[in-house]
Amino acid sequence: MGLVSSQDYNDSSPFCSWPGVFCDSKQENVVGLVASGLGLSGLIPDITIGKLEKLRYLNLSNNKITGLPSDFYSLGLVKSLDLSFNQISGVLPSNIGNFGQLEMLDLSGNNFSGVIPDSVSSLSSLQVLKLSQNGFQSNVPSGILNCQSLVTVDLSLNKLSGSLPDGFGSAFPKLESLNLAGNKIVGRGSDFAELKSLTNLNISGNGFLGSVMGVFGIPLEVVDLSQNQFQGHISQVHSNSSFNWSTLVYLDLSENELSGEIFHSVNQAQNLKYLNLANNRFSSQSFPEIGSILGLEFLNMSKTGLTGQLPSDISQLSNLNIFDLSHNNLSGEIPLLSIKYLQVLDVSNNNLTGEIPSSLLEKLPWMERFNFSYNNLTLCASEFPPATLQTAFIGSMNSCPIAANPSFFKRKEAKHTGLKLALTLAISMVCLLVALLLLAFGCRRKSRTWAVKQVSYKEEQNISGPFSFQTDSTTWIADVKHATSVPVVIFEKPLLNFTFADLLSATSHFDRGTLLAEGRFGPVYRGFLPGGIHVAVKVLVHGSTMTDGEAARELEYLGRIKHPNLVPLTGYCLAGDQRIAIYDYMENGNLQNLLHDLPLGVQTTEDWSNDTWEEDDNNAIQNVSSEGLSTAWRFRHKIALGTARALAFLHHGCSPPIIHRDVKTSSVYLDHILEPRLSDFGLAKIFGNGIEDEIARGSPGYVPPEFLLPETGSTTPKSDVYGFGVVLLELITGKKPVGDEYPDAKESTLVNWVRGLVRRNQGSRAIDPKIRGTEPDNQIEEALKIGYLCTADLPSKRPSMQQIVGLLKDIEPVVHQSLNEKN
Ligand SMILES: *[C@@H]1O[C@H](CO)[C@@H](O)[C@H](O)[C@H]1NC(C)=O
Ligand SMILES: *[C@@H]1O[C@H](CO)[C@@H](O)[C@H](O)[C@H]1NC(C)=O
Ligand SMILES: *[C@@H]1O[C@H](CO)[C@@H](O)[C@H](O)[C@H]1NC(C)=O
Ligand SMILES: *[C@@H]1O[C@H](CO)[C@@H](O)[C@H](O)[C@H]1NC(C)=O
Repeated sequence: MGLVSSQDYNDSSPFCSWPGVFCDSKQENVVGLVASGLGLSGLIPDITIGKLEKLRYLNLSNNKITGLPSDFYSLGLVKSLDLSFNQISGVLPSNIGNFGQLEMLDLSGNNFSGVIPDSVSSLSSLQVLKLSQNGFQSNVPSGILNCQSLVTVDLSLNKLSGSLPDGFGSAFPKLESLNLAGNKIVGRGSDFAELKSLTNLNISGNGFLGSVMGVFGIPLEVVDLSQNQFQGHISQVHSNSSFNWSTLVYLDLSENELSGEIFHSVNQAQNLKYLNLANNRFSSQSFPEIGSILGLEFLNMSKTGLTGQLPSDISQLSNLNIFDLSHNNLSGEIPLLSIKYLQVLDVSNNNLTGEIPSSLLEKLPWMERFNFSYNNLTLCASEFPPATLQTAFIGSMNSCPIAANPSFFKRKEAKHTGLKLALTLAISMVCLLVALLLLAFGCRRKSRTWAVKQVSYKEEQNISGPFSFQTDSTTWIADVKHATSVPVVIFEKPLLNFTFADLLSATSHFDRGTLLAEGRFGPVYRGFLPGGIHVAVKVLVHGSTMTDGEAARELEYLGRIKHPNLVPLTGYCLAGDQRIAIYDYMENGNLQNLLHDLPLGVQTTEDWSNDTWEEDDNNAIQNVSSEGLSTAWRFRHKIALGTARALAFLHHGCSPPIIHRDVKTSSVYLDHILEPRLSDFGLAKIFGNGIEDEIARGSPGYVPPEFLLPETGSTTPKSDVYGFGVVLLELITGKKPVGDEYPDAKESTLVNWVRGLVRRNQGSRAIDPKIRGTEPDNQIEEALKIGYLCTADLPSKRPSMQQIVGLLKDIEPVVHQSLNEKN
């Protein structure tokens, strides 16, 4: 990623061109400094950062900084200060009040202790305050009542106690998100009743008591009141007709002392995705009417006093992912459940009878957790290892024979390994400090006085920037003044008028928790835009040499490129010089995760055995059980063919041809019907020249030999053919393109290893044992030969993508009669 190298901080180059340093238009003063995740450690010395007196935004997050210099608090112009996830300890000095212009303060994930100083009262422009995961103690200071611009407050996971300062509820007309979770704060739900802009409230794990009614007066989207001591008949909420259920997305009332019957109006919460009412003192009652909340993904009704039968309409909840009904008194049979996304199912400790539905049994091996214990259920026709029976089926009487087959029971877990910048302290800290010293004496004009500045309260409707965000491997800045004035273009829905502010809320301010991946172009976040538009938001972090106009034209062009095997570009946003591409969200992840991300503890190349798929009568595809293993090659062939079609379309169906330049398994996504879709096409062009080199270097194992030669001409479609060849070989062998499994120096990559075998006429040895024999071996060997052709050293010897589509179609596995007869 090369964010910083010793060369970059070479003191002969103008400091304004150093990475992470941002200067004013005259190139004289540093106004922004971003040094996130560089491994900086220890105390920051005096006369370094503290002398950058024109500094407006500073981001030193994700380092190992233990202390700040004494002159730090003289930086009176700073608007955005991000020191999150360091190791800064001690009390927060009241000098924090010097930052009168501060709009964003993030100190989360440090070791601060003591009280939050009352001088925060001087921060009247503050919009974002994040102090979570520290050791702050005692009361929330009343000084905070002065910070009337606050939009987001996160004080979670500290040791705060006592009640909130008087007037808290009416002090923040703009507050949208409040998180006090994991403290010892006491209070009542009515404390929040006056926060008219609030949409997210999290007070989980505190000492709030009394009625929850106060909370149900405001139009909230996310409500977490769990683990408090709220009491009273929850049915009151029902009679509060003013509450707008339709905005509610997330409701957690679990582990309180609520009583009465569950509000009937919950079925009006048509946008609800998460509902947790577990572990309260509700009266004995029948299952609530929630069958029409079709978007529900999480439902926990454990210990809620449910009796009677499960209504059959819960089978309509096709998005259910986690479903816990344990510890109730439900009787009757388990209705058919939609098993598409089911990951956790717990019905233990009820009085359910009958057989576990066979569709469920098929799904079980893919589930993360299920529990049928302590019911009167019968278990038929399935194979489970004894260990599973012991814990998940306790007390479920088995009248049918059971065969144990442990391999049946392995499960996958998507692992997201963050890219870590491998930079040594020697380079980054020393160079940075030398650089800062130079800056300090180079640009210092006059010394400042120390004073607590009171800046007049600005009437600002907007959330204003610049915004800076960090991930494990990078930091990016959206240098925009007002988030609401930066448009987001959604091609198909031009009337929606989204802005960068919507992207911010769709991704919880580009929160790490919404990060899907960190790709070569930059981080990708998951988001829900208003109207339930589920998107992947890709930030093209590295600067571009294109002007805004050029970039917009290019993105508009890419938006018009449509093919069933391409991930559609839904829209884009130009935020400052940051280009943000917005894609349809792909529900089934990417091929790399599917192929190679193994369950914990399982060694390399072992997986895929559980990922077998079969088309059912409706041509939709669903998980199938062990017999389905035989279709494994069919599924992999389908992915190869779809990906080839996408590339053939880009090369031959677009004029001028679009060269992808980064074909690899992590660029191939699977949509909701498991159709492969290639992403990131056309992005390489949006980057400037320096970055093209970086892209051109390619991902390890996918780099065509011509890229390694000096003075190669421009990239051609044939370099994509090479990348496709590697993907095809991965599909056939189940192995990664590079890794420890190729110890032989001459055959140190997948390509070299396979090509060696094919040349020695031992190609069949390369075939993944999981698919070997599922189709005639010679068919799979034919595919191997296509992979061989694609990965030829000389580009001219590789076939075109059009030819490859033809070759793959020739070996398309036929649909077996016996498989069609199933069901
Ligand atoms: C509330 O905060 C706690 C502690 O940080 C967290 O575990 C929980 O997920 C949060 N709830 C929501 C709805 O985000
Ligand atoms: C449901 O809630 C109970 C009580 O809070 C908790 O113990 C259980 O783990 C939850 N179930 C799931 C699947 O999260
Ligand atoms: C469980 O259900 C059976 C009928 O299916 C009933 O006879 C029995 O009383 C129930 N047990 C409890 C504890 O409710
Ligand atoms: C299932 O529930 C029973 C009873 O609550 C518990 O003892 C057992 O550990 C659970 N098993 C699993 C796999 O969660």
